[in-house]
Amino acid sequence: MATAPATARAVASFDISDVTLYIDGTWRAPFARLRADMPVSWCAQSAYGGYWSVVTHELISQVELDPATYSSSWANGNIVIADPKPELNLQNFIAADPPIHTEQRKVIAPAFAPSQMTTREAQVRELCRDILDALPLGETIDWVDQVSVPLTIGMLCILFDMPLDEWKDLKRWSDYASSVNPDNDNDAYRAESMGQLMQMLARFDRLLDQRKGEPPADDLISRMIHSAAMGNLSPLERLSNIALLIVGGNDTTRHSMGGLVEVLDRWPGELDRLHADPSLVANAAQELVRWQSPVTHMRRTATRDATLGGQRIAKGEKVIMWYLSANRDEAVFADAERFDVARTNARRHLGFGHGIHRCVGARLAEIQLATLIGEIVTRNWKIVPQGAPTRLASPFLNGFTAMPVRVELRG
Ligand code: HEM
Repeated sequence: MATAPATARAVASFDISDVTLYIDGTWRAPFARLRADMPVSWCAQSAYGGYWSVVTHELISQVELDPATYSSSWANGNIVIADPKPELNLQNFIAADPPIHTEQRKVIAPAFAPSQMTTREAQVRELCRDILDALPLGETIDWVDQVSVPLTIGMLCILFDMPLDEWKDLKRWSDYASSVNPDNDNDAYRAESMGQLMQMLARFDRLLDQRKGEPPADDLISRMIHSAAMGNLSPLERLSNIALLIVGGNDTTRHSMGGLVEVLDRWPGELDRLHADPSLVANAAQELVRWQSPVTHMRRTATRDATLGGQRIAKGEKVIMWYLSANRDEAVFADAERFDVARTNARRHLGFGHGIHRCVGARLAEIQLATLIGEIVTRNWKIVPQGAPTRLASPFLNGFTAMPVRVELRG
């Protein structure tokens, strides 16, 4: 691989992929320094090797809109900062370039079309009400365990048309499939992870066989098995695409729901504004994805030498688009750290990405978040943290593994 001379590079003096920044929630200041001093910077040494960081809204959009130069394909690398595990190189459509990406995305996208969303919205509301109705007011509960996880996994069971009681399996498989943690880079974890994913493959193969024998339906499994582009995938590609839908549809929205507790605690006046004007709820859901940025980054790999923000990127190098930083970019979002339910340009966030890979499930995620926010308002609830949350050890997903809270009526 040809590399530009080191002297020509803007070299960061710290490693922004360091997992401790995400465990401690201390990523804000280093990202602000990078945005101010070097919007495109090189880090030569990290747990994942050398990589470029792109940290502004404008430059990330530029990378997203040039998939020919900045590839998503597993054949060139990976879509997260970590390199693919040799024994488990997930080959799905988020990790593909056109034409494979275009053909396979077309199979899945209709499941999220506006015509489908009316039914899904009613299902989300029913699920959300059932989960919230069961919460004991005034007692300490774990918000992640009792709200975020069942709500998002419940939705996934609906999308796959699977029995709701399988949600614990889905959660476990999702956690293994999305893990980007240097501590897990060992043989024991890899073997454990592989075993779990094989269990998942076996379960979904049974489901695919069952749906193959049935008339085409609206669920994701049926759409896959009855399509020309995805009906005959190899077992690895099948597993990978199912893992994509499970992780995509689950951890991301889950961590936004944790973020909701943090923002309403830090800015309680925003709940008052939602009470005064409930039409702000939909915008609040967008603002929440901006503020939380549950997917911190996506990676591209340069297919040729290129220049970005004045820096020379060499063919084969990793280019990390830090959405977490773009969504705090003051050039686009005034007072960016603040959670503002009436922010007029909240929709410009890059939390769902941009360009040809922009999140296919974005509308469904917004519906889930708006439904949860709306229910909290209607019930006149406040969510009161009972101690610090436990943050996920990952430079890829910005989220929580536990969050003790008490649900109380507002005074
Ligand atoms: C892609 C974020 C919810 C399924 C993506 C990407 C991001 C993202 C950043 C990559 C965009 C890019 O590379 O430009 C999120 C966030 C969510 C969310 C923050 C919730 C708040 C969902 C849901 C589903 C889903 C609910 C499905 C049930 C997918 C799929 C892709 C994707 C299948 C691949 C799209 C492609 O490559 O064409 N998402 N997502 N996501 N997401 Fe989401």
